[in-house]
Amino acid sequence: MLIDIKQGNILDIEADLMIVNLFEGVKAPGGATGAVDKALGGAISQLIELGDCSGKLGETTLLYTHGALPTPRVLVVGLGEATSFDGKQARVAAAKAIRAAKNAKARQVTTITHGAGIGDMDPIDAAQALVEATLLESYEMPADRSAKEDRPTIETVTIVEFDADNIPLLETGAQIGRIIAESAMFARDLAATPSNIATPTYIANKAVAMAQEVGLESHVMDWGEMEELGMNILLAVAKGSDEPPKFVILEHNKARADELPTIVFVGKGVTFDTGGYSLKRTDGMWQMKYDMSGAANVLGILRAAALLDLPLHVVGLTPLVENMINGHAQKPGDVYKGMTGKTMEVISTDAEGRMILADALAYAGRYKADAVIDQATLTGAISIALGAQAAGLFTEEDDLKTRLLAAAEATGERVWPMPMYDEYKDYIKSDFADVKNSTAPNRFAGVSTSAKFLQHFIEDYPWAHLDIAGVSWTKKPRPMYPKGAAAFGVRLLVQMLRNWEEA
Ligand code: BES
Ligand code: ZN
Ligand code: ZN
Repeated sequence: MLIDIKQGNILDIEADLMIVNLFEGVKAPGGATGAVDKALGGAISQLIELGDCSGKLGETTLLYTHGALPTPRVLVVGLGEATSFDGKQARVAAAKAIRAAKNAKARQVTTITHGAGIGDMDPIDAAQALVEATLLESYEMPADRSAKEDRPTIETVTIVEFDADNIPLLETGAQIGRIIAESAMFARDLAATPSNIATPTYIANKAVAMAQEVGLESHVMDWGEMEELGMNILLAVAKGSDEPPKFVILEHNKARADELPTIVFVGKGVTFDTGGYSLKRTDGMWQMKYDMSGAANVLGILRAAALLDLPLHVVGLTPLVENMINGHAQKPGDVYKGMTGKTMEVISTDAEGRMILADALAYAGRYKADAVIDQATLTGAISIALGAQAAGLFTEEDDLKTRLLAAAEATGERVWPMPMYDEYKDYIKSDFADVKNSTAPNRFAGVSTSAKFLQHFIEDYPWAHLDIAGVSWTKKPRPMYPKGAAAFGVRLLVQMLRNWEEA
């Protein structure tokens, strides 16, 4: 989809469909919406009067212009309450509008930005919101892109702005929005690709190719290098598969590491999770192809950090393994000593995410980071607690928590603080090692005990853990999150990075 920006009057520009907007409670529309209303002899005012067009957030009303304008269709999208208007409302409106335009089979669409006028939004933010929402709502997974040749697709979205002074600002915002959305879609594509294709090797290759394209430093560790580092907890998971494990390291601003704040992202990259010998039940096992969503997000975030040229040293670490069963596979009762020298006992081979993260988080220690944030589809229990409405946030760092909550508020990618009480440490005491990876058959506080396990391997840096198991795959579509891979966390964490110095 091509998105361009044009200076002019939206009424004069020919397209298949034109998008204008309306705040809730407005009886006599102004701006572009008012001009369209006038050209159509008060058609929009009449719909408002009848109660058929209310301005409610995300409501869409389609009108036909019958030759009164060069564009045959006008879509009025509701912006919701003007008093509460923000980037989140702008994104919902843009997403709903583009969905309705697609359903109307429009190919060439013109639109105004939402909220830069009465909404009092900064034109840069308004353009970013519009482009981000337009692209993310239009996302289709790789299989859908190749399977349905004749599906309706929007070819061009032209953002029309009357005020010439605003054009450079809109261009800046649109560029930011495009980078963030495309980085999220990069992550979505990886998460949606089936595990027979998206193996650790495939993902590592994609990561390196992307790094070269956007100018990131990259290094991929193979089995040998990980073994030398003593990453035996990670390799315990890897050894059950014929697919060799990979550990991808990406760095933005590596050369300026000493002068810039360092933020490290770690992402769980289990390319398929059968559960190992603690085998998962068959129903829904196919979904475990997205058990590398954390790793995919990390790659997406690093891509955005490079393209936005953020003034930070950003590091991405993705341990990539396949959790399978063979003659070498780990077994319950096994004890492994990882990179920190600490030992762990395997109770469940299905609690493999925390195992690979244990060594990845140990590796993160070498960066002397200002913050380390991991993202992992770690527990089924987090979806029981929060559903698809928020990721679980585990941290004992107030500053990091504040930053993450602020980014969540701005992007709508919610995180919800979960407890990390000391007592949970007792739950993971082992008779044979420093800790055990599961409390089975007991399932109490399953989310917190998983975080406590990770915390055991953290050495001396501010750390936050995001459990994204409930939010990584969209079952019930919502604005900007069509069915399937969500890349939930990319927008959130890029936002946190963009605000790092200001906060
Ligand atoms: N990958 C799963 C968690 C998961 C479940 C992700 C559903 C996405 C959707 C993880 O490796 C796992 O199996 N966790 C176990 C932990 C248990 C054995 C302590 C779980 O949640 O049951
Ligand atoms: Zn598992
Ligand atoms: Zn898993």
